[in-house]
Amino acid sequence: MDALFEPIKINRMVLKNRFVRTATAERMSPPNGEFTREMVNLYTRLARGGVGLIITGHAYIHPLGKADRRMTGIHEDGLIPGLKKLVDAVHRFNTKIVMQINHCGGRRDKDVGEGTPIGPSTIEYKPLGIASRQMETREIEEVIDLFARSAGRVKNAGFDGVQIHSVHGYLINQFLSPITNKRKDSWGGSLDNRMRFLLEVYERVRETVGKDYPVLARIPAGDFVEGGLTVKEACEVAKKLSELGIDAIGLSGGLAGSRYRKGRKDLSWMRKEAYFRPYAEMVKKVTNVPVILVGGLRKPETMRKILEEGSADLIGLARPLIREPDFPNRIKRGDLRKAECVSCSNCSGDSGREPTKCRFKK
Ligand SMILES: Cc1cc2nc3c(=O)[nH]c(=O)nc-3n(C[C@H](O)[C@H](O)[C@H](O)COP(=O)(O)O)c2cc1C
Repeated sequence: MDALFEPIKINRMVLKNRFVRTATAERMSPPNGEFTREMVNLYTRLARGGVGLIITGHAYIHPLGKADRRMTGIHEDGLIPGLKKLVDAVHRFNTKIVMQINHCGGRRDKDVGEGTPIGPSTIEYKPLGIASRQMETREIEEVIDLFARSAGRVKNAGFDGVQIHSVHGYLINQFLSPITNKRKDSWGGSLDNRMRFLLEVYERVRETVGKDYPVLARIPAGDFVEGGLTVKEACEVAKKLSELGIDAIGLSGGLAGSRYRKGRKDLSWMRKEAYFRPYAEMVKKVTNVPVILVGGLRKPETMRKILEEGSADLIGLARPLIREPDFPNRIKRGDLRKAECVSCSNCSGDSGREPTKCRFKK
């Protein structure tokens, strides 16, 4: 059987193939964070295109954790009925859907709303646009609770699972990174202390949704910034999560997303195909859970090799599915040409203001 189309189980969730649409911010919500018809259409197109699992764009767990103006919310029970419609639309195609939940901490657009951004420390890290005031211990506990309550809403809305966003310089990544976490208490300093926030979020989410509900995490393979979280430390984080019972690990990396490239040390490797593959292999060595590899995957034959050679268990695609939502079905039909996506990243548009869509011009 073609490795790309072999089913796989993540906790109780059975996926029909190995293609995962990794979290991609839709930037289609009105100010109250509601899901819109536009988003139902987007996800219907993706599900119809044959992907096995869709991970939604990051959704904010509290207004202070909202990264940009058009981000989707999961911070209120009132959002659940709208989300149910979305889940139903996707399920019609035997596709599973997981919601990614997030708090942006100090990586927040200026025009998002009221309140000073919070983070592990009072810090302004200009190269990556991260600025925050130090959270009190009480606030840390409150935010952990917000993650758990949002995960409960995700489950109530009928999603097949929840993913904890711990990458790209948002709040959990800020706790993990020695650049943004300067705390002297039990939430900062050693790696054990820096990863405590993520582990407590995971444990509280697990308590809320129960043992048999899929809980995934997206973690950094490293910060790739001088003085940041190292690859070795990132593997320790993956190992710990796996020991605690996480159901799948998705990888990414970089203290902030690609918008803040200038803050990163060396990005030439990011133009390569499957640029996180060596890191996925490292994570696979120290964990026993399915690993989702993403980043520059464009050729079906490379994707198949990645699975056959055991480098990862699932193939993540973000930009290729913006351009071609039916890429998985096209591969299934035997059309093995590489993805049309040229990785220009213009799909981001004017981040926070414009909906995500392919803007490539020949
Ligand atoms: C427009 C856009 C929005 C994104 N939004 C998110 C997000 O909400 N959460 C997340 O974890 N990653 C997000 N990503 C990162 C992607 O999931 C993915 O890691 C990255 O695009 C590399 O994979 P690709 O080469 O298949 O595009 C986003 C990427 C793009 C281009």
